[in-house]
Amino acid sequence: MTLVLGIESSCDETAAALVEDGRIVHSSIIATQIDLHQKFGGVVPEIAARAHLQLIDKVVDEALEKAGFGLDAVDAIAVTQGPGLIGALLVGISYAKGLALASAKPLIPVNHVEAHVHGAMLGIDADPETLYPSIALVVSGGHTNVYLMREATSFELLAYSIDDACGESFDKVAKLFGLAYPGGPAIERLARGGKPDSFAMPRMMEQKNKLVFSYSGLKTYMVNLRQRYPGSLSEETLQDLCAAFQEEALGQLIRKLALIVQAHPEVRSLLIAGGVAANLRFRELADKHLRVPTYFPQLRYCSDNAAMIAALGFHQLAKAKDPGVFSRLDWDAFSRYQFTSS
Ligand code: KG4
Ligand code: ZN
Repeated sequence: MTLVLGIESSCDETAAALVEDGRIVHSSIIATQIDLHQKFGGVVPEIAARAHLQLIDKVVDEALEKAGFGLDAVDAIAVTQGPGLIGALLVGISYAKGLALASAKPLIPVNHVEAHVHGAMLGIDADPETLYPSIALVVSGGHTNVYLMREATSFELLAYSIDDACGESFDKVAKLFGLAYPGGPAIERLARGGKPDSFAMPRMMEQKNKLVFSYSGLKTYMVNLRQRYPGSLSEETLQDLCAAFQEEALGQLIRKLALIVQAHPEVRSLLIAGGVAANLRFRELADKHLRVPTYFPQLRYCSDNAAMIAALGFHQLAKAKDPGVFSRLDWDAFSRYQFTSS
C-alpha cells in the first residue's frame, strides 16, 4: 500500500487529503473561502493567499487525524504546482516543501487541471486501468480542456477554449443578473424552473470539424439580452434566461464531446471533471447523447479538493522511471500566465 498526502491551494479552497494507492480516500478536508470572496463577486488573490496561510496547517493536521495516520505512515506528499493564483500556490508549495524536507519524504508536483480528471475516478466500481484509452474533459472556472489519455499520467490536449472557460461564462452571466458567486450553482438552481427554449440562443462553434470551444460570444449575447430587459426581472423570466443559457453552454460541450468520441473509436470511456461537472442537467444530457461509458465525479470531488491531487501524485510516483527525481525541491510554481522576458 502506498499512502499519499495531497495538498491543494491553487485558488480559494485550502485542502488536504490522504489517499491510498490513488483510489481509497481515507480523508479529504476542504476549507472553502467562498464567504470571504463573495462580496467582491470573484476570488481576490491577495485575500486567498492570506487565508491559505492561516488555514493550511490546520487542514493538513485534520486530514492526518481524520484518516488516523501519523505523518510517518505517509509514503509521499503531492502538491499542486499550478496552474493557479501565484500567491495561493506558493503557500501550498512552500508548506509542502518544508514538510517533505523535514520528514525526508518524496514531494510530487502535480498539475491541478489534469488532477481534476482523477477526481472522476475516485470511488467508482470499475478498475481505472480498464478505462484507458479515455477521453477526459476538465470543465471548470479556468479551463475547458479535452485530453486523450492512454494511461493515468498521459494527457494529450485535443481541444480547449479559445476565449472564456465554460465555468467562467456561468460566473459572468450570473453576475450580470445579480446572482451570487460562484454563478454555476445559482444558474443551475434557477434553470430548473425555466424553459430552455423560451429564448433563442446563438449556437457557438457550429463548424463541425473545429475542435475548439468558445464562450465569449454566448456571454456577449447574454449582455445584449440583459440590455433588452433592464431593471428587475420577474422570477419566471430569470428562470427562462438561465435555462436557455445553461442549455447552450452545456450543449456545446455535449456536441464537441460527441464529435471527439466519434473521431476516436478506440476510446473505452469518457471522464468528465471540474466544477461544472457538478451540474445535474449536464449529467442528464451526457447520459442521453454520449454513446460511451461516462464517469462524473462524486459531487465532493467536482470542485477543488486534495484527494484528486494525491491520486494523480500516486500515479506519477508509480510510473516514474527514477523515483529519486521526487527528492528534488528545485522547482517552482507555475501560474496560468507564464511571463517571459522577450
Ligand atoms: O473546478 P472548480 O471548483 O475551480 C476551478 O479550478 O476553476 O470550478 C469552479 C467553476 C465555477 O466557474 C463555478 O461557477 C462552476 O465551476 N460550477 C458550476 C456548477 N458548480 C460549480 N457550473 C455549472 N453548474 C454547476 N452546478
Ligand atoms: Zn479546479
